[in-house]
Amino acid sequence: MKKTPVKPPTSNGPFCLILHPNDQKGTQVVFRLIVVAWLFLVLMISLMKFSTAITVKNDSTVLNNLQDLCNFQLVESLPQDMPYGPNSSAAKPLYQAWMELLNMTHESIHVVSYYWTLTGKDLDVNDTSSQQGEEILKKLESLLSENISMFIATSVPSKVYHSTDLKVLEGKGAHVKWVNFGHLTHGVLHTKFWIVDRKHIFLGSPNVDWRALTQVKEIGVLISNCGSLANDLWKTFQTYWDLGVPNATIPFPWPSNYSTNINRRKPLEVQFNGTTTKAYFSASPFSFCPEGRTFDLVAVLDVINDAEEFVYVSMMEYFPTSHFRHPPRYWPPIDNALRRAAVSYNVHVRLLISCWIHTVPSMFHYLKSLSVLTNPHTNVTIDVKIFIVPVGNHTNIPFARLNHGKYMVTDKTAYVGTSNWAEEYFSSTAGVGLVAQQSSVDPAKRNTTIQQQLRSLFERDWNSKYSVNMEDLPGQKDCVWKDGFQSL
Ligand SMILES: *[C@@H]1O[C@H](CO)[C@@H](O)[C@H](O)[C@H]1NC(C)=O
Ligand SMILES: *[C@@H]1O[C@H](CO)[C@@H](O)[C@H](O)[C@H]1NC(C)=O
Ligand SMILES: *[C@@H]1O[C@H](CO)[C@@H](O)[C@H](O)[C@H]1NC(C)=O
Ligand SMILES: *[C@@H]1O[C@H](CO)[C@@H](O)[C@H](O)[C@H]1NC(C)=O
Ligand SMILES: *[C@@H]1O[C@H](CO)[C@@H](O)[C@H](O)[C@H]1NC(C)=O
Ligand SMILES: *[C@@H]1O[C@H](CO)[C@@H](O)[C@H](O)[C@H]1NC(C)=O
Ligand SMILES: *[C@@H]1O[C@H](CO)[C@@H](O)[C@H](O)[C@H]1NC(C)=O
Ligand SMILES: *[C@@H]1O[C@H](CO)[C@@H](O)[C@H](O)[C@H]1NC(C)=O
Ligand SMILES: *[C@@H]1O[C@H](CO)[C@@H](O)[C@H](O)[C@H]1NC(C)=O
Ligand SMILES: *[C@@H]1O[C@H](CO)[C@@H](O)[C@H](O)[C@H]1NC(C)=O
Ligand SMILES: *[C@@H]1O[C@H](CO)[C@@H](O)[C@H](O)[C@H]1NC(C)=O
Repeated sequence: MKKTPVKPPTSNGPFCLILHPNDQKGTQVVFRLIVVAWLFLVLMISLMKFSTAITVKNDSTVLNNLQDLCNFQLVESLPQDMPYGPNSSAAKPLYQAWMELLNMTHESIHVVSYYWTLTGKDLDVNDTSSQQGEEILKKLESLLSENISMFIATSVPSKVYHSTDLKVLEGKGAHVKWVNFGHLTHGVLHTKFWIVDRKHIFLGSPNVDWRALTQVKEIGVLISNCGSLANDLWKTFQTYWDLGVPNATIPFPWPSNYSTNINRRKPLEVQFNGTTTKAYFSASPFSFCPEGRTFDLVAVLDVINDAEEFVYVSMMEYFPTSHFRHPPRYWPPIDNALRRAAVSYNVHVRLLISCWIHTVPSMFHYLKSLSVLTNPHTNVTIDVKIFIVPVGNHTNIPFARLNHGKYMVTDKTAYVGTSNWAEEYFSSTAGVGLVAQQSSVDPAKRNTTIQQQLRSLFERDWNSKYSVNMEDLPGQKDCVWKDGFQSL
């Protein structure tokens, strides 16, 4: 049934598109050629180095990961007052995942978050739903009193200015760095992950924010007993940490101790719950990819290009443009990949995108331009639905009540990231992604692979009453913005 034409080699081309800062056509072409030539050289050199590295070096990480019996769990938070039907699948609650991680801590915690706000007081909100965040803060304080080393990297510029969390933790011995991504990349440190004892990891959409626990829909992964992956993610932590000093500049190239040999070409093979898994971490922007680190955009394109049957995407925001400059600039690499998958390979594409009161409405025009390609006569399917978290009586809580998760699942691969899909999230904003593939020949395990579990969560949301077709958006009271709804 499925056509299987020969696919193009994956994604070496499109990523040059995003690197030029220039709008002038002539220079743009020259610039692109230079970038392509340069990337080609870098690629060749790294491939050469890489192949000598594996033949010559007795790599201790290879030995280590054979001993890692990692445990993998999907984690999510479901906002209060947003019930699903009975028997609907659900992942481990975020609060429980964070508490478990903190309970496991013996030595050290490394946390990266765009901003911190764990107490209602930070936002002048008196609401019982801030309690879980406050408990997380207390737990962090108590770990400091047990002499746990705590390293926290956070962003300048920030989004929350009145939080006292980091001052409190610093006062009790935490090491905190405000990394100035405004200066470094004209972006922000939007990454969110935790590393405990260099062995256990949490990574995903939630910031260290009480609303992430009770008022915002989030998704992430908890990987425990997995030193090989934790140490690799720690290298990305270190790229932020080491630039958290005044007047820092991004090294080019990064010193070789930041390099990795775990990437899209050579993912790590580890056991997750006893099933062999291939996994790697990507990073953005490109300037935060030391040698061997896969650029997050390339990871995303790779996952889309590898799909043969379906690509399901759940994103807060989707723009085939820049998002923070005016007027916006067209930025098509991901859009092209989705169109190509659907049109050339009949891959079934589904996009589940969020709407809330701060949505920029031009997004719907871009989404509409994808969904109109759907045509049963040519077997092209790009379905779009809009996910709306009901606000209910939670109007007292600012910047909440939305689906903030960022992930994708295909018939081959699971991808959980920290970035929305728009140009700056790859060109100037720091983020990370986890790419994981499980293949199980054991029929009893086949429907519990990571991909299958992520697909179940996607389908639960897609088929829920919170997902609406774009035609039905007018009249959705929790998806209106100041200019009102323009008909599409
Ligand atoms: C690699 O190193 C380990 C531990 O140092 C040693 O036991 C092993 O024999 C080495 N393997 C090779 C192929 O050199
Ligand atoms: C939920 O599961 C229970 C027990 O398996 C079953 O009895 C019930 O019919 C299910 N409900 C729905 C709506 O599927
Ligand atoms: C964490 O530890 C606390 C106190 O030791 C305990 O009350 C709590 O149940 C534990 N939570 C988890 C998720 O393990
Ligand atoms: C918060 O609200 C509760 C109940 O609505 C009230 O009892 C309490 O005094 C309030 N706290 C503050 C600090 O306003
Ligand atoms: C923490 O370290 C301090 C100073 O080194 C020491 O006095 C204290 O006993 C330690 N506390 C714990 C719980 O290990
Ligand atoms: C950073 O740069 C400023 C201006 O160039 C300079 O005055 C200051 O001394 C520098 N600080 C450090 C720590 O190098
Ligand atoms: C690499 O080495 C430098 C110098 O010793 C150190 O400052 C930096 O933190 C190291 N980075 C990593 C990822 O180990
Ligand atoms: C579309 O799919 C159907 C069933 O899979 C197949 O019979 C048909 O030939 C396909 N049409 C095109 C245009 O590929
Ligand atoms: C808010 O709404 C929920 C259900 O939607 C209800 O259970 C709760 O009592 C309401 N709270 C207030 C303060 O009205
Ligand atoms: C696989 O899925 C079927 C039906 O969807 C379910 O009955 C079965 O328990 C699942 N197997 C495992 C190992 O979860
Ligand atoms: C791994 O095992 C845990 C329980 O230890 C379970 O909750 C989780 O769903 C499993 N993960 C996968 C991918 O099967």
